[in-house]
Amino acid sequence: MRSIAFINQKGGVGKTTSTANVGAALALLGKKVLLIDLDPQANLSIHFGVDIHSRGLSIYEIINGTHKPDEVVRKTEISGLDLIPSNIDLSSAEIELVNTVGRETVIKFNLENMLYKYDYVLIDCPPSLGLLTLNALTIVREIIIPLQTEYFALQGVSKLFQTFELIKKRLNEELEITGIIPCMYDSRTNLGHEVLDKIKEYFEDKVFKTAIRKNVKLSESPSHGMPIMTYAPDSNGAKDYAALTKEIIDQEAKTFKEELRQTAPTAKVSVNVLSTNS
Ligand SMILES: Nc1ncnc2c1ncn2[C@@H]1O[C@H](COP(=O)(O)OP(=O)(O)O)[C@@H](O)[C@H]1O
Ligand SMILES: [Mg+2]
Repeated sequence: MRSIAFINQKGGVGKTTSTANVGAALALLGKKVLLIDLDPQANLSIHFGVDIHSRGLSIYEIINGTHKPDEVVRKTEISGLDLIPSNIDLSSAEIELVNTVGRETVIKFNLENMLYKYDYVLIDCPPSLGLLTLNALTIVREIIIPLQTEYFALQGVSKLFQTFELIKKRLNEELEITGIIPCMYDSRTNLGHEVLDKIKEYFEDKVFKTAIRKNVKLSESPSHGMPIMTYAPDSNGAKDYAALTKEIIDQEAKTFKEELRQTAPTAKVSVNVLSTNS
């Protein structure tokens, strides 16, 4: 199971668009995927056609412990893609959590048993580094940072890094930043090129090779309650998110090789045991 938080405390950088479309692309490739909407604005839920005004069960009830994750999770129109929605109730959770014991791990604690059913768990974080985001960072092993490929792209990144280091040291030593997505890239402007170069200079090989181009279909698809793959499968937006998703999957081959190298002696022992028994 891979668990990834899409995080950046700036709003409007492409977190929700990336969570929705990477999730959809993974599911269309046959993976079992759980999306968690951790933003009270509930844009991810809207992206999958959830009527957020009807105030159905949401992540808020999981945080409160009044409902089990199994009761809250819902299927989307894409097979293999499940969603734990959010709604505006979540905006009070941040304050309510302040006085809760183990406040950074409440969601992990209440959700943990369900996560192992999935190949991928993707969390769409709110645009802040508050308690909801900290909760996300104790659940996942990976952070992916979407950046808007605009002049102020790197503003706030050092604060995000400090938070990452702190959580890694205190609460989740497995946490790693595994990718940076250049979003809303405009290849026709000098600024677009310059900012992309700056992002690559700063983050080096952490930057995905696929930059997500500006594409109007990507901004239209949420209002139709659909990810880009079903709303406009031939658009550049769909192509870019498909290419990015492939890169994310390919990271596994690399990690797997590394893990194999690290566990090689143990693996050898178990092979010997097997051959003696047979
Ligand atoms: N590549 C893109 N091209 C055009 N519009 C985009 C693109 N990515 C995101 N958007 C739009 O920009 C706005 C902000 O994106 P969003 O993913 O909601 O950001 P965040 O979740 O970080 O606040 C949304 O209206 C979204 O539809
Ligand atoms: Mg968002």
